[in-house]
Amino acid sequence: MAATLIKGSEISKQIKEELKQKIADLKEKHNVVPGLATVLVGEDEASKVYVGAKEKTCKELGIHSERIDLPADTREEDLLALVEKLNKDPKIHGILVQLPLPKHINGTKVLYAINPDKDVDGFHPVNIGKMMLGEPTFLPCTPHGILELLKRSGTETKGAEVVVVGRSNIVGKPITNMLLQKRGGNATVTICHTGTKDIAAHTRRADILIVAVGKPKAITADMVKDGVVVIDVGVNRLETGLVGDVDFETVKEKAKAITPVPGGVGPMTITMLMSNTVQSAKMHSGIAD
Ligand code: GUN
Repeated sequence: MAATLIKGSEISKQIKEELKQKIADLKEKHNVVPGLATVLVGEDEASKVYVGAKEKTCKELGIHSERIDLPADTREEDLLALVEKLNKDPKIHGILVQLPLPKHINGTKVLYAINPDKDVDGFHPVNIGKMMLGEPTFLPCTPHGILELLKRSGTETKGAEVVVVGRSNIVGKPITNMLLQKRGGNATVTICHTGTKDIAAHTRRADILIVAVGKPKAITADMVKDGVVVIDVGVNRLETGLVGDVDFETVKEKAKAITPVPGGVGPMTITMLMSNTVQSAKMHSGIAD
């Protein structure tokens, strides 16, 4: 059985079209324009690309975007003062401080300084706590995108055996939490990590397998069962090009559906950031969903 492709590039286009409409309605009916501030400290090339892509997507959708570029030697207290200013700015509904920050700045302190009600990254401990409790909050963008991919590809999560490989704070831990919520995925979720004795014994049980380990082709065909749905979060640059954490060519022969790399999970992250920003603008303006 050759797998269906779960194309994040197309699903994200569809979500962006829906957002464009919502943003136009907000402007027309409520005179509200969602606003996102992105803060970049230093000269990290990959971060510049990400921040540039976020700005471009804001423009495309009609979101007000403010980009603040600061030199690499910016003092922590100056960055904290900027965050405080953005916390108070009524035009700004979302604040994103691009990571990684230079080593002399305490990143945790900066992320904790962002008003949780403007934390569209979903990284603030208050929002992580709400997510764990199943309360409405900003969901971190990559796992939020994975939920949308599952939903929009018609993958049933209720009662499914989900196996997550990787326990990062940005992907593994939050997607595990979202999928176990009764009103999230209602799935049975197992999380595997470097301390797991026999990862393959777990992955072979999975109806849905989510992999975010940052190791090229770590999951091979012998580690999955027939008919599995595979979400590959990995982006690894090899001489031959980009590959995921899953050995796509062999696993796709057994899977029912699989995300490609590139064009799978990747395009969803910025799209869900835009969605969180719109959600924040509505919340700040007292507009119900
Ligand atoms: N650096 C890489 N990914 C992200 C992200 O999703 N948010 C922030 N703030 N920084 C990042």
